[in-house]
Amino acid sequence: NFYALIMAGGVGSRFWPVSRTEHPKQFIDFFGVGKTLIQSTYERFLSICPPENIFIVTNEIYSDLIKSQIPEITDNQILAEPLLRNTAPCIAYGCLKIAELNPNATIVVAPSDHTIADLEGFNKSIEQALKAASENDCLVTLGIKPNRPDTGYGYIQHTDHVLNTDKDLHKVKTFTEKPNLELAKSFLQSGDFLWNAGIFIWSAKAILKSFEKHLPDMYEIFNSGRNDLNTKREKAFINNAYFQCTNISIDFGIMEKADNVYVLPADFGWSDLGTWASIYEMTDKDYVGNAVIPSEQVIMFDSSNCMVNVPKDKLVILNGLHDFIVVENNNMLLICPRDEEQRVKEFVAEVKSRY
Ligand code: GDD
Ligand code: MG
Repeated sequence: NFYALIMAGGVGSRFWPVSRTEHPKQFIDFFGVGKTLIQSTYERFLSICPPENIFIVTNEIYSDLIKSQIPEITDNQILAEPLLRNTAPCIAYGCLKIAELNPNATIVVAPSDHTIADLEGFNKSIEQALKAASENDCLVTLGIKPNRPDTGYGYIQHTDHVLNTDKDLHKVKTFTEKPNLELAKSFLQSGDFLWNAGIFIWSAKAILKSFEKHLPDMYEIFNSGRNDLNTKREKAFINNAYFQCTNISIDFGIMEKADNVYVLPADFGWSDLGTWASIYEMTDKDYVGNAVIPSEQVIMFDSSNCMVNVPKDKLVILNGLHDFIVVENNNMLLICPRDEEQRVKEFVAEVKSRY
């Protein structure tokens, strides 16, 4: 009864220009390991559930990319969205579709753009969460110990109250999605908070109940056509449904509001490849803190703490540059102070408005 729903519709704009709308980060082999992020994600779930129980929800423009990167996946396992509407609609759609196939399903909902260093630890946490979620009416999230006041994450504060069937799962007291920097700093200092890993585990029944309660309009939109799901009417129904949906993330739409959220603290070398800072952290650096991919063609003089990611055939010389991001792809070059990388989204919007 275990299923996986992989969310792969994001455009990864914070990695512009390496990640582009036509080819976003989940389809990129960031570290040159021979596998893209989505291929690694899919592989991780093969040890959790049978391949036919793995579904991928994405924008329809990426269906072919998915088929080319994961050839064994069938058409019914790719859930194609006509529009970008953030994670709440894609989860409503995916979980309802799975519920129609198996009302007793327990589902792991996972992003497609994370790296996990300790696969054994990952499997252990997911299996533990799946068991708890299949036995209780609750929404489970995995919590990661934070190490910086990152404003790109959800912050979870939990209580001492634990689940009857599993003492490792703590009842969540507050869930704060993407706090401002001041709040993030205070969360970090208090030592009471975990990051939301963005990996959710719940029964189809529990999450659908939560949609009904916290996002009733969205629930109604999808529920009205649940009989069309897994039939040839699905596409027409979904295309119409998406135009009626509001744009909201699961975090704002449900996790912040629900009162049956439990967190399982986890430590399996999780990293969300959300920004250049996360790549910088994971890349080997020279003795003055430069992270350079690929390293052969880049020559540095009196430069430190830079994140450089350029095409293989590019010869680059940096002199006197400190704490900068230098990234190039497809004739687009970005040079930006590392501590202002949150502005990349703004730059992309500006580029789009001009060209
Ligand atoms: N299908 C689909 N459709 N997928 C989407 C959409 C969409 O409209 N929007 C985003 N996704 C996918 C992304 O590709 C990614 O794999 C995942 O959903 C999460 O979206 P992000 O946009 O990366 O979210 P985030 O990183 O800002 O925040 C989430 O993850 C953090 C941890 O990585 C939140 O859950 C935070 O609370 C959490 O800390
Ligand atoms: Mg993310």
